[in-house]
Amino acid sequence: MNATISSIGIYHPQKEIKNSYFEEFLDTSDQWIRERTGIENRYYASENEYTTDLCVKAVEALAKNHNTNLQEIDFIIVATSTPEQTLPSVASQVQTRMNIPHAGCIDISAACGGFVYGIILAKGLIASRTHRKILVIGAETLSKVTDFTDRSSCILFGDGAGAVIVEASTENHLFKVITDTHGSYGKDLYLSNKNIPINGMPIIPDNKIRQNGRVVFKWAVSTLTKKIEELVSKNDMTLDDINFFIPHSANIRILEAVCKELNIPMEKCLESIRNYGNTSEASIPLAWYDGIISGKVKPKDKLLLIGFGGGLTCAGICLQNNIEMK
Ligand code: ACO
Repeated sequence: MNATISSIGIYHPQKEIKNSYFEEFLDTSDQWIRERTGIENRYYASENEYTTDLCVKAVEALAKNHNTNLQEIDFIIVATSTPEQTLPSVASQVQTRMNIPHAGCIDISAACGGFVYGIILAKGLIASRTHRKILVIGAETLSKVTDFTDRSSCILFGDGAGAVIVEASTENHLFKVITDTHGSYGKDLYLSNKNIPINGMPIIPDNKIRQNGRVVFKWAVSTLTKKIEELVSKNDMTLDDINFFIPHSANIRILEAVCKELNIPMEKCLESIRNYGNTSEASIPLAWYDGIISGKVKPKDKLLLIGFGGGLTCAGICLQNNIEMK
């Protein structure tokens, strides 16, 4: 059974955080943040607003954008590193809040690779003919797990959510995929409240997101460069066949370095880092949506989505865009 994606919805919280916010309590500047990360703005959830709330708003936006009958959804996958509870899953709470009867529900943990992993899993469920209409959501409230005394990480993160529906189709719009993981880098990007070493290394168990920024940066540039080439060739395509690349938006300099290495013009790389910061699982749908709304991404365009993050892990897919805003 073939699959396609023809609907999308996004949501970001209302509280806007400019770079100048951090100048008030950290030794940093708007200029440093813009130049070293590309970030100009991000949004934070309010005190009583959680990942499930963001997911619900993104799904409501999707339903409104495309006049979607949510009752037909038979599976919900939420990719998040910031569920408000370990149990119940965020997906199950979206199911009940949106009155979607009888859908299977799971949360998945693959950090900033999670949204693409979710699409890959949905594609597999549809191919196996067990399900026909799958809601895949990438959502984060990273502001709730940010250490605001660490100037090299706290300036990066933002909150947001993006939802798509992967559904059975007569035509195949979801092409071949890649997945890869280097678990030996687990200690270089983690979020834990347990005092258990990772890769034999002691960690800070304070439930805040911790990273070795330089290590992750270098790994991301070399991995994305290799994996984008591998994915394109696996699909019997060339880089020129792809209309837009949508890598996870972690830092504009990562995207610039990858594009330079592969000789891809930056205009073909869609990002969400400037306006939303690093929103992890939400970053790819946010960039995709902005690309559609701005009129850049059109139906039938070939897209390459590639996520990477904590694990360190990576997942990519080539697809034909079937989303149109009426
Ligand atoms: N303001 C001013 N100076 C700063 C700041 C700041 N906010 N942060 C760090 N600096 C300083 C450092 O202290 C250092 O000073 P020094 O030279 O006197 O020691 C200098 O700037 C350079 O520090 P670097 O760590 O080398 O800075 P870099 O250019 O690497 O930028 C950053 C840091 C932005 C974290 C970058 O390494 C990065 O983006 N890494 C990748 C992050 C990533 O992709 N994470 C994965 C996704 S996260 C997830 O999964 C949710």
